[in-house]
Formats: sequence, C-alpha cells, structure tokens
Amino acid sequence: MVKLKAEIIDKMANEALENVKDNMIIGLGSGFTVSRFVNALKNFIDENQIKVSVIPSSLQIQIFAERAGLKIAPSNLIPFIDLVVDGLDQIDKRFNMIKGGGGALLREKILMRASKKVVILANEDKFVENLNRKVPIEVLPFARDFISKELEKIGGKPELRVMEKGYPFFTENGNIILDTDFGIIENPPLISVKIKDIPGVIETGIFTERINLIYKGHKDGTIEKIIP
Ligand code: A5P
Repeated sequence: MVKLKAEIIDKMANEALENVKDNMIIGLGSGFTVSRFVNALKNFIDENQIKVSVIPSSLQIQIFAERAGLKIAPSNLIPFIDLVVDGLDQIDKRFNMIKGGGGALLREKILMRASKKVVILANEDKFVENLNRKVPIEVLPFARDFISKELEKIGGKPELRVMEKGYPFFTENGNIILDTDFGIIENPPLISVKIKDIPGVIETGIFTERINLIYKGHKDGTIEKIIP
C-alpha cells in the first residue's frame, strides 16, 4: 500500500531514535524531515526521562525545537556533537548528496563535519544514480557576477535564488545563493572542489561528507537501513 510522505518520514524519524542516548548533544539539520524528527525526539526524551540538548542548523529548525521545548545548546559546543540527524535533496549511488534546498547548507555542513555520527533520513524518490539537481551555492553578494562567470567556466549555469516576489533570498549568514545547473554530475567531489576554489564562494550544496547510517523510506511504508 502506498503511504503518505509525511507518514513515512514520521516512521523514519521514530526509527532513527535508536541512535539517541542520554546526555547527547544532537545537531539538527533543517527542513520538513528534521522538523518531524524534532517532534519524535521530544516524545522520546519525555518517555525515557533522558537529557539531550540540540544545536540547530537554522532558525527554521530552531523555532521547531524551541516550540517542542528542547534544550538548545550554544554553538561553542559544536565540536562535541555526538549525532547529527539531517534530510537531503538528492543522493547518488556513492552517497554523495545535494543539500541546501532551504538555504541552510553552510551550517548543516559544519554540524555534519563536527559530529561523531551522521544519520540521514530520506524518502526513496531522493535516491538517484547520478546527482542531477541544481546545486545550491552560497556566495558573497559582492562577488556574485564574478562567481557566476567562474561557474560558467566550469560548466555551470547559475541562477540567483529569489523569493516569490522576486527579492533575492538571503541566507542566515547574510549571503546569497546561486542555484547552479551542472547537468548530470558524474564526479561530485571534483565539481565540489572546483566550486570551492572560486574566491567568494562560501559553501557548496554538494556534500561528500561521511554518512554512518541512512534510513530510506519506501512508498509501501517500509524503512530500509543502509550503512554506506
Ligand atoms: C536545507 O537547506 C536542506 O539541506 C534540507 O536538508 C533539504 O532541503 C531537505 O529538506 P526536506 O526535509 O524539507 O525535504
């Protein structure tokens, strides 16, 4: 039977709770998937009477965490994060990801790199052979035209991310996003290095980070656990 996406996400979020232990500092990614994990986490903490604090990667997820009554840890504890739970926009056969659909890529990548364990939740429609979505690239506004030209030189077609009424989208770090089409990305680490080599690029939405565990949600409601 085909299940609703939210139902499957809730199921993945609940399964992912098996990674949560007393006294952990948990880094939270951003987006809908993580917002559902926040709810599941709050129930789990209450039921098991454990102490957990979270470090959110964006104001979006911080607001969810605050409303749920989770304890927010300060950013000086980032080096001590035990677990990160995050979603993604697309993932390829070698577990490279595209993230940043919500614009939180920079802080998400920092938390992910800092964490002892990385857990990813993703519905099956986000799994592809090769990445082919536009890559969100966070850039310094001052350098936007220069960076656009440089991205074209390495085969990209950049497009400034704008909001509904045409205003530029600003990240929480005061930067803008160039959503850049590279077609089919056969070598994500190589493209990522080339993008990051351009002065003024703050971060790229290509994530080649180590992932410890993936919960893959299937349409029939089953959850597959993948250890990359
Ligand atoms: C936020 O900038 C992104 O990296 C999210 O992790 C990604 O867009 C997935 O979001 P959803 O959980 O809303 O699909």
